[in-house]
Formats: sequence, C-alpha cells, structure tokens
Amino acid sequence: MPIVAIDGPAGAGKSTIARRLARALDWAYLDSGALYRAVTLAAMEREVALDDTEALTRLAGELEIELEPGGKLLLGRENVTRRIRTPEVTEAVSRVATVPGVREVMVSHQRRFAARNERVVAEGRDIGTVVFPDADLKIYLDADSGERARRRLQQEDEVADGADEASVRAGIEARDRQDRSRKTAPLRVAEDAWRLDTSEMTLDEVFAAVRNRVTSAIRP
Ligand code: DC
Repeated sequence: MPIVAIDGPAGAGKSTIARRLARALDWAYLDSGALYRAVTLAAMEREVALDDTEALTRLAGELEIELEPGGKLLLGRENVTRRIRTPEVTEAVSRVATVPGVREVMVSHQRRFAARNERVVAEGRDIGTVVFPDADLKIYLDADSGERARRRLQQEDEVADGADEASVRAGIEARDRQDRSRKTAPLRVAEDAWRLDTSEMTLDEVFAAVRNRVTSAIRP
C-alpha cells in the first residue's frame, strides 16, 4: 500500500502538486484539508459555535463525508467540492482543525480512504507525522509567506473580493501560527521528510523535482 505524504503550510503548492502527481501515477488523491473544511462548512450552516469543542466533535462524528479518489467531496448527498473553498470557510477552518475530537474522526476517515484505495498521494499538515507515519515517502513543501500570498491571490475563489497581497499574507501567517501552535498534530517537518523550499521555483519545476524523488524512492 504505497503512500506519498505531502505536508506544508497553506499556499506552498501542495494541492496542485499532489493532484498532478496522483494523476500522473494513476493513484488516488487524498485532500485531507477538504475534510476539515467540510466539518467547518457544516458547523457554519448549522450554527454550531466554533469554540464549542464538544458540539464540533459530535458534529464531526455524525456527518456523512465521502471523499472520492479524484478529490470530489460529498456531504450527505450534496457535492460541496466548491463550497468548502469560500473565503468564509477558509478563514474559519484552522479553528475547527485545532479540536482534538474532530481530528480523531478525520484521521480515521483518512486511514479508511487509504485502505480502500491502496495507492495514495495524501496532502495536509500532519500526514507524515500523525496520519501515515510509515508513508513510503514524506515531502514537506515550503515557501516564504509573501510568495504563498501571491500564489493564493491567483486562486481567486479562495480569497475575498478586493483582497490585496498584504491582507492575504496576514491571513496566511495567522493560519500558519494557528496550525503550528496547536497542541494536537501541529504542522511540523517530519524527521524523515524531504523538505523542498519552492519560493523561487515554478510549479513545473516543483513537479519535476517531486516526481524524480518519487520515482527513485518508490519502485513499482
Ligand atoms: O490545506 P487546506 O487549506 O485545505 O487546509 C484547511 C485547514 O485545515 C488548514 O487550516 C489546516 C487544516 N488541516 C489540518 O489541520 N490538517 C490536515 N491534515 C489538513 C488541513
């Protein structure tokens, strides 16, 4: 059951690279952030307070979340793949992701996904450290926050109308702090991860470097 784990902060290129890699290898793509986003969307719609950790944990356990190998996400029967990417969800999600009970449920979702799909490129914050500590290859993609903000601005759906580079950068840095300082499964570089700083690389260059690494680390 080969697994490639890709971790790193927001805007480092993880999603684009993980999705492209999964397609090139014909492996399943596991977007773990989408799971935390789905819980956040449901909490907002049901008016669950984002500081009510018990209610959030209960909600996470009750939701019917279905992540398809191509990245499509169903909540109940509804396709919420786009709605989990609104600026409102993006802003609120790192709070929900601090709740240990929510994380526990999401980690079991991810492990079930890997058991179902066998060959997986998984992307998130704690994939190589917590979810799949025995992953065959662990990659930590990084970039400085200014460059990550510029990249995020190009993904228009996720930023609020009228946002500029400074405000997007401030939002990214706030989420980084939240993701790195939480007690349960904080964002950090796994000891055995290959760290790649992509600040001065194009996405094509990052993809080529990652693909080479995968080819040499994982023999078919
Ligand atoms: O990668 P993303 O922007 O979709 O992640 C959304 C949020 O979920 C982000 O605040 C970090 C959190 N997250 C997490 O805590 N653990 C993961 N494995 C993936 C995402």
